[in-house]
Amino acid sequence: MKVDVLLGLQWGDEGKGKVVDVLTPRYEVISRFQGGPNAGHTLEINNFKQVLHTIPSGIFHENKLNVIGNGVVIDPIVFEKEIESISKHGVDLHKTLYISKKAHLILPTHRLLDAASEEAKGETKIGSTLKGIGPTYRDKIGREGLRVGDLFENFTEKYTARVQAHKDLLDNYYHYDYSAQLEVAEKEWMKAIEVLKTFKIVDTEHLINDCLIENKPILAEGAQGTMLDIDFGSYPFVTSSSTICAGACTGLGIAPNKIGNVFGIFKAYCTRVGAGPFPTELFDQDGQNMRDVGREYGSTTGRPRRCGWLDLVALKYSVMLNGVSELIMMKADVLDKFEIIKICVGYEIDGEITEKFPFELNDDVKPVYIELPGWQTDLTQLTSQNEFPEEFNSYINFIEEQVGVTVTIASVGPNRAQTILLGE
Ligand code: GDP
Ligand code: IMO
Ligand code: MG
Repeated sequence: MKVDVLLGLQWGDEGKGKVVDVLTPRYEVISRFQGGPNAGHTLEINNFKQVLHTIPSGIFHENKLNVIGNGVVIDPIVFEKEIESISKHGVDLHKTLYISKKAHLILPTHRLLDAASEEAKGETKIGSTLKGIGPTYRDKIGREGLRVGDLFENFTEKYTARVQAHKDLLDNYYHYDYSAQLEVAEKEWMKAIEVLKTFKIVDTEHLINDCLIENKPILAEGAQGTMLDIDFGSYPFVTSSSTICAGACTGLGIAPNKIGNVFGIFKAYCTRVGAGPFPTELFDQDGQNMRDVGREYGSTTGRPRRCGWLDLVALKYSVMLNGVSELIMMKADVLDKFEIIKICVGYEIDGEITEKFPFELNDDVKPVYIELPGWQTDLTQLTSQNEFPEEFNSYINFIEEQVGVTVTIASVGPNRAQTILLGE
């Protein structure tokens, strides 16, 4: 038995949450392996909508194990709110959710450091979600972080020492005034860790590997997207974790030869939230139409997402880095009314055209487009590939030929039901 991985191939918000929910019936275990509450994964099931930040997206299916792996960073306050919100739908995760002892904790001061760091950067800020992600991973890599397992031994001592170090930074380096915020946040945080401690906190690497031995199928759910990966994304405008497939190994404790299918998920166009380069970004009415029809506003922060055409240079790079075995195309319905659809097939850099993703995506990188006819059909009501308009099939075929991987699922609306398995 192997672990299948589902991950984003663009700049996040590809629709990972929706597809994990759709694929969950095929699996017994759903796990998150990196990122934290910077993620916002949206599920729409019949008439209700739920955004998840920390908890894996398979939770609305009964009798599944849900795992938060060691690679994830957890904010107990966000976690508590999430648990409260899903309990309104009758879901109690006390029996089925397992949290890694080795997952790192986002402290209230990590959030303050995130805000202070962004403020200090001014014009060059990353556009972080301000959830404390960067400072928490910085402490982890700096070998100074606090882990969930630390909650059970001399925690107050460890907490106080770390927070003092953070305060020193805030006071003496950032000169950041936090007096009004910290006390309230700490109270809320201390209350929330008591809730966190009521869940099963274990060495999840053993749990996952035992499940493999017992032939239980496992799905690993990525957060963010490949273009936000700490190593291969558009650095420094990235997040602080390994969002690529290799991150599933380090973030869960599974060996590389235990990776099975890799589902690479992408939008039929492109979006990005926060700062940083985006070669195919549109500033015209086409971009605004994508934002309006696709409801492209951040699930975590509510910020408008930047929109643009599909970028095959970036997509091929992502497919290469992740060893994608199946493609999943999302939100094609957003392009329903377009007469012409453009796809970026190369970058022109200093007069030369390349299909290789460069070291840096600076202003010298100009997208080279080809145009395909739009399908101008409402896709949202379709239920099978037989009903696809010819132009839509051509759009899919073009991408498959360029990228060299088959599209096996097309999503044509936000609801669980608006998902079409191809080739069946
Ligand atoms: P994630 O972070 O990758 O899980 O994606 P988000 O949930 O942040 O953003 C995807 C958004 O698109 C959510 O609002 C989804 O409800 C919505 N969505 C997902 N699939 C589709 C689709 O096929 N069509 C449309 N119109 N919306 C979709
Ligand atoms: P999901 O899992 C889209 C972006 C932020 C910012 C950069 C760094 O929902 O796809 P961070 O808070 O991680 O330090 O922010 O990364 N970002 C995301 N963009 N979807 C996400 O997650 C994101 N998580 C972080 O906007 O540009
Ligand atoms: Mg999201």
